[in-house]
Amino acid sequence: MIRSTLALTCLLGLWAGLSQAAPLGDPEAGKKVYNSCKGCHEVGEGARNGVGPHLNFVFGRKAAGLEGYRYSKSLERAGVAGLEWHADTLDAYIEDPRGFASGTRMSFRGLKDPQDRANVIAYLRLYSDNPANIPEADPTARMSEYTVDAALLAMDGDREYGQYLSGECKACHLSDGADGIPSIVYWPEDDFKVALYAYKSGQRLHPVMQMIASRLGDEEIAALAAYFENPD
Ligand code: HEC
Ligand code: HEC
Repeated sequence: MIRSTLALTCLLGLWAGLSQAAPLGDPEAGKKVYNSCKGCHEVGEGARNGVGPHLNFVFGRKAAGLEGYRYSKSLERAGVAGLEWHADTLDAYIEDPRGFASGTRMSFRGLKDPQDRANVIAYLRLYSDNPANIPEADPTARMSEYTVDAALLAMDGDREYGQYLSGECKACHLSDGADGIPSIVYWPEDDFKVALYAYKSGQRLHPVMQMIASRLGDEEIAALAAYFENPD
């Protein structure tokens, strides 16, 4: 009993002292890194628990937080003690699962390369709420149930026109999400469109964005989505 309390104290100390993950992650490269997780973890639509828990919405999730999956006592205790998954805690766990939570059932040797870890975390982030690409921060917006007509999602936008229109947006949206305004670069086009239509229809409630979105037609929205997906 005393020993396990001690172990827990060390664990708490470890994750309280973690610094922000240094390198920025690239979700494309992370997809390849994810191949080493895939045998045990599912992500994406319809993901289910397998050997390991599914990793949708893992950002902000309490450790051992999924119902219906049987976690190790070790990870469960950490969750009860307040461990949540964010970029820094994911980084530490993935680097050395057993070093982080000694009794974890995740039998994975760990990823030693910080860039690999940053990349796979950026990839996982795509499946947690809306992915503005700042891997070291939590996603900014809750994924909504809002659905957009497939024809509008399929519509190709004119990237150059989008770039022209983007000037107005960049007055507020900085690429690093500073000033509490979310970053909107590198979003998958569909998510970007869904967000704008959700403001336009009034389903998302921010008055400024509602006003801005209400002035945009389908063509403008498609153009902005095409541009912001890949602004470089
Ligand atoms: C050999 C199978 C296996 C591999 C490979 C593996 N995991 Fe796991 N993972 C598990 C198991 C089992 C658990 C549950 C651990 C526990 O209960 O202690 C887990 C737990 C996790 C959790 C905690 C989830 C939660 O709900 O608390 C995260 C995050 C995670 N793994 C990420 C990864 C990533 C990222 C990779 C690849 C870099 C990876 N895992 C590779 C088996 C694996
Ligand atoms: C006056 C400042 C301002 C301008 C100009 C502006 N936005 Fe926004 N935008 C915001 C704020 C603030 C939010 C967060 C609103 C919320 O919490 O729902 C936001 C949210 C968004 C979101 C959702 C972000 C997320 O994380 O869910 C998208 C997409 C977006 N804006 C696109 C645009 C586009 C495209 C333009 C240009 C046509 C634009 N914005 C112009 C302030 C602005």
